[in-house]
Amino acid sequence: MTISIDYTNMMSTAVAGGISDTEWAGSVATFEAAHARFRELAASEVVGFVGAATDEKLLSQSVEFAESARGNFDDVVVLGIGGSALGTIALRTALLAYGWNALDAAARRGFPRLHVLDNVDPVTIAGLLGRVDLARTLWIVISKSGGTAETMSQFLIVHSRYIEAGLEPARNFVFVTDPTQGALRPLAQSLGVRALDIPSNIGGRFSVLTPVGVLPTALSGIDVRALLEGAADMARRCETAELGRNPAGVYAVSQWLSDTGHGRTMNVFMPYSDQLRDLADWFVQLWAESLGKVRRDGEFVGQTPLPALGATDQHSQVQLFMEGPENKTLTFVSVKERGVDLEISGQFPDVTGVAYLAGHSLAELIDVELRATAGALAKRGRPNLTIAIDRVDPWHLGGLIMLLELATAYAGQLYGVDAFDQPGVELGKQFAYAMLGRPGSEAAVKEWETLPRPDARWQV
Ligand code: PA5
Repeated sequence: MTISIDYTNMMSTAVAGGISDTEWAGSVATFEAAHARFRELAASEVVGFVGAATDEKLLSQSVEFAESARGNFDDVVVLGIGGSALGTIALRTALLAYGWNALDAAARRGFPRLHVLDNVDPVTIAGLLGRVDLARTLWIVISKSGGTAETMSQFLIVHSRYIEAGLEPARNFVFVTDPTQGALRPLAQSLGVRALDIPSNIGGRFSVLTPVGVLPTALSGIDVRALLEGAADMARRCETAELGRNPAGVYAVSQWLSDTGHGRTMNVFMPYSDQLRDLADWFVQLWAESLGKVRRDGEFVGQTPLPALGATDQHSQVQLFMEGPENKTLTFVSVKERGVDLEISGQFPDVTGVAYLAGHSLAELIDVELRATAGALAKRGRPNLTIAIDRVDPWHLGGLIMLLELATAYAGQLYGVDAFDQPGVELGKQFAYAMLGRPGSEAAVKEWETLPRPDARWQV
């Protein structure tokens, strides 16, 4: 079981304009310092996501709840947004959506269907409410802050359906939230709803290995212990401050140098696996919300992440990646064993346009496409790296998640920003509160009223 990174194509030895040996050597000490600062944050428990991988007590909250719920529900629905939803969506797509390798049909019998409502579009929510049997549905309300307007609105709507139907809602809800803060804790108490913990030192986008992602996937029958073991293994590999041996360090430093020294301001995350397509969205949130910041000296920093999918995007975005602005790096994710393969049959030996495909397989084709695209990009001076995993299974996903979370934490140190806050989303929230009449938003109302109104000259 391995996870490795080949970053040859990030370096000037392979790619014109890539990172030079001198730059890389110069960043060794910088990384050591960044690693030490992050270690300090983790050791003093200011930042807790690494510890979640080995927190047995936290794991048992989810496992015990999942065991007690076994057989009681046909559908499990996550109500949450951002970091409270994207990790579960990624795990669901990777481990449940493609039935053949996740859990065979027999093992899946008895496990409920998993849905994630990560938006407040009434069309989606009304649609799901129309499909599920309320008595046989478990709603997991996930909010670290316990007060996010989107999630609370979803909850209020769903909860009222139970009251209207004369059903006792307590057994159909479970909350996942901060141990002490926010509106969900007191609500849990007054409604008699069970509430599991998101440790206070783990923020939304770093929380997938807490009950945020572990509870819904445990309820779906996924081996959550293997998920955490994979993460813990990666955390151990990243204990070293020696750059060349620390995979998350290599990822962070290669992106940071490419961005700050070579104008590679965008990071395209492109797995060559349908199972990993939603991992790209999870990564995008992690990289964007953690690193896109105003530094204390007033500098705007952060690399813009962009999701893509191989081989599909070879017929879409790759043209831009090849010949568009030279402002991107690409992160490919390759999968060594896909668990299933399909051989391409040779029915038309005389048709040269298809005959060459005969005898190859789809797993071979998708892998060849990745290597060909990576090589072609390198030849055009477009830096890229490949993260290789053996299989898409809980262990490797846990490792990949920890690798990218640690890389993000290190990158925060390298850029000189706090990777764990998100002050930039506040103003929009305050304006929304102002329009919805939330008490305490009087200042935002005033500020909102000073904004230019829609101007007839600029409308068509
Ligand atoms: O990463 C983050 O902190 C955010 O994306 C949050 O996850 C998102 O805003 C939802 O917040 P909460 O979990 O408090 O409802």
